[in-house]
Amino acid sequence: MEKKQTALLVSIANIFCFIISFFSIFPFSISAPSHNYSDALTKSLLYFEAQRSGRLPYNQRVTWRDNSGLMDGLEQGVDLVGGYYDAGDHVKFGLPMAFTVTMLSWSVIEYGEYIANVGELEHAIEAIKWGTDYFIKAHTSPHVLWAEVGDGDTDHYCWQRPEDMTTSRQAYKIDENHPGSDLAGETAAAMAAASIVFKKTNPHYSHLLLHHAQQLFEFGDNYRGKYDESMGVAKNYYTSVSGYNDELLWAAMWLHKATNNQRYLTYVIDNAHLFGGVGWSITEFSWDVKFAGIQVLATQLLIDEKHMKHKHILEQYQSKADYYICSCLNKNNGTKHNVAYTPGGLIYIRQWNNMQYVSSGAFLTMLYSDLLTKSNRKELKCHGGEVTPQDLLQFSKSQVDYILGSNPLNMSYLVGFGPKFPSRVHHRGASIVSYRENKGFIGCTQGYDNWYGSSDPNPNIVVGALVGGPNHNDEFTDKRGNYMQTEACTYNTAPLIGIFAKLSYLENTVLHASY
Ligand SMILES: *[C@@H]1O[C@H](CO)[C@@H](O)[C@H](O)[C@H]1NC(C)=O
Ligand SMILES: *[C@@H]1O[C@H](CO)[C@@H](O)[C@H](O)[C@H]1NC(C)=O
Repeated sequence: MEKKQTALLVSIANIFCFIISFFSIFPFSISAPSHNYSDALTKSLLYFEAQRSGRLPYNQRVTWRDNSGLMDGLEQGVDLVGGYYDAGDHVKFGLPMAFTVTMLSWSVIEYGEYIANVGELEHAIEAIKWGTDYFIKAHTSPHVLWAEVGDGDTDHYCWQRPEDMTTSRQAYKIDENHPGSDLAGETAAAMAAASIVFKKTNPHYSHLLLHHAQQLFEFGDNYRGKYDESMGVAKNYYTSVSGYNDELLWAAMWLHKATNNQRYLTYVIDNAHLFGGVGWSITEFSWDVKFAGIQVLATQLLIDEKHMKHKHILEQYQSKADYYICSCLNKNNGTKHNVAYTPGGLIYIRQWNNMQYVSSGAFLTMLYSDLLTKSNRKELKCHGGEVTPQDLLQFSKSQVDYILGSNPLNMSYLVGFGPKFPSRVHHRGASIVSYRENKGFIGCTQGYDNWYGSSDPNPNIVVGALVGGPNHNDEFTDKRGNYMQTEACTYNTAPLIGIFAKLSYLENTVLHASY
């Protein structure tokens, strides 16, 4: 990942009001041709194998990759081998890695049955476990969590295969004197969510994850601080702009879901105002800003009678979830309360790695569609009109179809899917000859000289990666140096796992016309 920061923009002001108002009906009025969603699901899970750090297992399917980072943590006397590279570089950034695992787990929790129908449940679970095995190693004592291996500045100085890596592998941690409530909170959320996934199939492991999650939450809550203020190396890369209040609520919400312990729900209720859970109206959901996810989880709780004693606060969370969903559909009052779309109908939040907001938005709208069906509301009342579960599903599908090729360039932004997809993904390993084919060492700047600058397609295809995607005008330049558009990230693909599975189910069991 290149330097990346998000700003807490409620939405981007836009000057194309007439286009927006015209295209706001686009997702519902034109039914794009459907795609092979089960194929997309199968491919998207391969991406997580391409991003693996550490010693690869015997059943590794992405064979252009080999072992890497085998001494991670050694200098610090801790075993930090494993985990994921977040994007096209080789830093192991804890915050986005944890968010990726939370979203993979959420996908399996909601849509595991459909993932299993496609025969991909094992792979989805392996993708989660590759992350949680690493978090277990990284959480070396109750108040110590290793947060990052490598650093962005030195990593970006080189263009190498992970197998040849010569850059610093220094590890950084948070502890009582260097708190990081955002990182501890997100890692707790990831482990709590994953514990639900493993509950039936691997109860011992599930229990272990829960134990770590509870400790990490207590640590994050009792030792408050922003991780990027405790560890300078995170500052220019994954700065937690929204602070840690959202991660603490998010962690408590997931711990409640995993344990059913009222203590965690009480935390979410008691801190609703103080932490902005019912205050922030936000039109993005991302590795940094989790409020919309928290608000949707709170809305799910309203379906269950047993939470009625918290109805008052939960309904405030719900009204913010409604706001987020209405904003995605351009049905709030006023441009600044709605997300922008490209002329081709894609959610457009910002130029750098915009697709992350598309996949997370498509996930929450799909979930809300299910949620409305189950609740007694049946439809959502937005300022601009009523929205049915069908509308939400159709919207979510329109975003996914755009990703898969129903767009002005006929380009699939999911690498390896369909006839046309990005061929010069900003990805060190993919852009250099496979280590398994050619073990000759490729040095730090040699990669820049011989591979980065080449106009040839990448020798290896990072199948299943969702790249940053097109600009506000549906334009896309397939160049390695164009990292805002051609770099992929693990948290872009994670929410798609669930969505692809659900769409595949609908495609195979429900007549097209009926949804
Ligand atoms: C979808 O793709 C899978 C390969 O992943 C293939 O086996 C299947 O036949 C395809 N389905 C259709 C309807 O083309
Ligand atoms: C995209 O596909 C459509 C329908 O096949 C075609 O009419 C159009 O010219 C294509 N556009 C591009 C940019 O390839």
